[in-house]
Amino acid sequence: MEKRRLIIYTFTMLFILMSLIVFVAHKRRRTMDVSTPYISDRNASDLSNGAAIYNTGEDINGKMIPIGGGPSWIIHDGGGCSVCHGENGKGKKEVRDLKISPPNIKKIIDKGNGLSDEDFEKLLKWGVVASDGRTLSWQMPRFAIPSNDLRDLRKYIEGL
Ligand code: HEC
Repeated sequence: MEKRRLIIYTFTMLFILMSLIVFVAHKRRRTMDVSTPYISDRNASDLSNGAAIYNTGEDINGKMIPIGGGPSWIIHDGGGCSVCHGENGKGKKEVRDLKISPPNIKKIIDKGNGLSDEDFEKLLKWGVVASDGRTLSWQMPRFAIPSNDLRDLRKYIEGL
């Protein structure tokens, strides 16, 4: 009888230990996935993710980039930067009921023009233009965009 209890006890402890190991390993993998989104096998999807965000306002997995401000139709109809700034990034004279013409952003976001990733993030999140301290009109929506998406988007715009 004692022996049987000992065996059951041992197996129970083993089971608990193994579950714990599996749980911890799983958790560590997940945090690694989140903190290192830029491992090399991700690069292949960078541009298509940037393209998806630019043209649809959703990332490559169909998740919408949360927006604030902007015209109400952008919430109802969806859409990315291209709706206002054009598929080539060169801006549009007239966009539906907007009072301001969305400018050419290709020139602004292009490589080597001094706009750092941090400046770009500030501009998209808070509408603040770092170079001259301007605050953009609310007709330009604010985008709560994750930093890896921001880099993908920038890469795409630079390639337009
Ligand atoms: C609903 C239309 C709309 C959408 C969608 C939109 N923008 Fe804009 N954007 C504007 C307008 C209008 C302005 C000009 C605002 C101003 O001058 O006050 C602007 C300004 C900008 C500027 C600043 C140019 C400057 O003067 O320095 C950048 C950069 C920009 N947008 C990038 C983007 C990006 C990137 C996206 C997509 C993530 C985006 N915009 C989506 C309408 C839009």
